[in-house]
Amino acid sequence: MTTIVVAMGEKNEIGFENQLLWHLPKDLKHFKDLTSGHPVIMGRKTYESIGKPLPNRTNIVVSRKNDWFEEGVLIVGSIKEAVKFAKKIDEEIFIIGGGKIYEQTMDIADRLEITRVKADLHADTYFPKIDEKTWKKTNEVFHEKDEKNQYDFCFQTYDKVID
Ligand SMILES: NC(=O)c1ccc[n+]([C@@H]2O[C@H](COP(=O)([O-])OP(=O)(O)OC[C@H]3O[C@@H](n4cnc5c(N)ncnc54)[C@H](OP(=O)(O)O)[C@@H]3O)[C@@H](O)[C@H]2O)c1
Repeated sequence: MTTIVVAMGEKNEIGFENQLLWHLPKDLKHFKDLTSGHPVIMGRKTYESIGKPLPNRTNIVVSRKNDWFEEGVLIVGSIKEAVKFAKKIDEEIFIIGGGKIYEQTMDIADRLEITRVKADLHADTYFPKIDEKTWKKTNEVFHEKDEKNQYDFCFQTYDKVID
């Protein structure tokens, strides 16, 4: 199973100036619960935005640069290579962004784990349109904002329609 994990606003916005658009500790915990123990694939910009390898996961970073090294992460030159390495480690692999990587992996993903944030925010990076013919929502759990989580949000699972 290849799963895309993303948090996006009402207009599919996911980031601005290489940062996330919100601070939602409940979503960070959800992300950790989903991905811990499994390989995660990300673009070089997302890696730089996180700033360090995510613990308890093999971190695979996709970059076209050939003069870039980083301790504790596996750097590969293509998405195909990233998936090949990840699948050698585990059946369950996670693609964690950002925009450029999501655009190129919608075709190979089986599942989308989306945090749909009830906010409309200024952004420079977006998640691709989710085609309703290709993707079917199979689960949804609503969370109300509280003192630590600044917006209402839903955890949604979409599975690819097999025809
Ligand atoms: N809300 C969320 O769930 C979420 C999740 C992740 C990220 N984000 C946000 O998304 C933004 C970053 O996204 P982004 O689209 O700017 O960057 P990105 O997708 O994280 O990384 C893009 C970089 O990945 C490498 N790359 C992309 N496609 C490649 C390919 N086919 N082969 C080899 N290398 C490839 C290139 O690295 P080189 O330039 O090194 O060649 C490219 O510059 C940030 O704002 C971040 O906070 C949000």
